[in-house]
Amino acid sequence: MRIEAAASVKTPGLEGLLSACRAHDGYAFLELASSLNAHKDMGSLFLAGEGDRLLGALYVFAPRKDEAEIGGLVLPESRRQGVFAAMLRAAEEELCRYGYRDELLVVDSRSAGGKSLASRLGAGHEYTEYAMRYAGLAPVRAPGGPELALERLGIDRLEALVELRSCEFGDSREETEDFERATFASCDRRSYGAFLGGRLVGACSLGYDGRKVSINGLVVDKASRGRGIGQALLGMVLAMLHAEGLEIELDVNSLNANAYHIYRKAGFETISAREYYRRRL
Ligand SMILES: CC(C)(COP(=O)(O)OP(=O)(O)OC[C@H]1O[C@@H](n2cnc3c(N)ncnc32)[C@H](O)[C@@H]1OP(=O)(O)O)[C@@H](O)C(=O)NCCC(=O)NCCS
Repeated sequence: MRIEAAASVKTPGLEGLLSACRAHDGYAFLELASSLNAHKDMGSLFLAGEGDRLLGALYVFAPRKDEAEIGGLVLPESRRQGVFAAMLRAAEEELCRYGYRDELLVVDSRSAGGKSLASRLGAGHEYTEYAMRYAGLAPVRAPGGPELALERLGIDRLEALVELRSCEFGDSREETEDFERATFASCDRRSYGAFLGGRLVGACSLGYDGRKVSINGLVVDKASRGRGIGQALLGMVLAMLHAEGLEIELDVNSLNANAYHIYRKAGFETISAREYYRRRL
């Protein structure tokens, strides 16, 4: 068996691997947003192959410099033969070269094999993230909410955006700035801001993938929370995306009861859950 870091996410055989796993398990997932990784030159996709055949793939998603998310999949007929473990060793060596101390193994809640692997590796369950899909009606603006203006943000708003976001998602100011710059540089991503009386009070970013779009990093300025701004911003973004006929998705941490509440209330339904297991490298 050969283990190598892929030069590009457009690797031949990857689609076939995803389809084979989807047909067998009913789901398949690889996070291929490596352009958001803190170290752009770090290996982020590791492949196991034999001859021309791709046996497995493992991704590293690491927008932060202290912890990296790792997930992967192996062809159904090649499981329980050490394929994932071999890819993981290669990924961990790379992470150690870049000074990472912690990894978060990402396991679909339906994967009994993934859970038992995490437990055998001594990784502890930390939280679960729900993947949600918008299943509501055409959104309408709730009467009596704050009078917000929604605007697509350009790089000239970088500083205000970093001010709003830093430390909110466990990132440092420097990591937030790098992340926002990568978002502005990506042709698949857009940032939107909510303005109240000309002041930026909330934001979110959108990730486009064909007819699908994900809403990420919704945030409201600390001093303005609890006044309906989060829901009003979400409603405006939903109205815009719904009018474009897109399928709208997002992820939310199970510990974030406030955010989960507003997504459910807006018309999102949970479609799957991913469990995060932490392990010291
Ligand atoms: C999540 C966030 C964007 C919400 O913004 P906000 O402007 O405070 O939200 P709103 O005022 O519009 O609505 C808050 C709702 O949550 C409810 N809520 C507050 N605390 C809650 C809790 N612990 N559990 C459940 N619901 C809660 C409020 O009652 C209100 O709902 P209601 O109108 O039905 O009564 C904001 O808290 C934030 O920026 N958090 C940090 C970043 C974050 O976690 N983002 C989510 C990423 S997925």
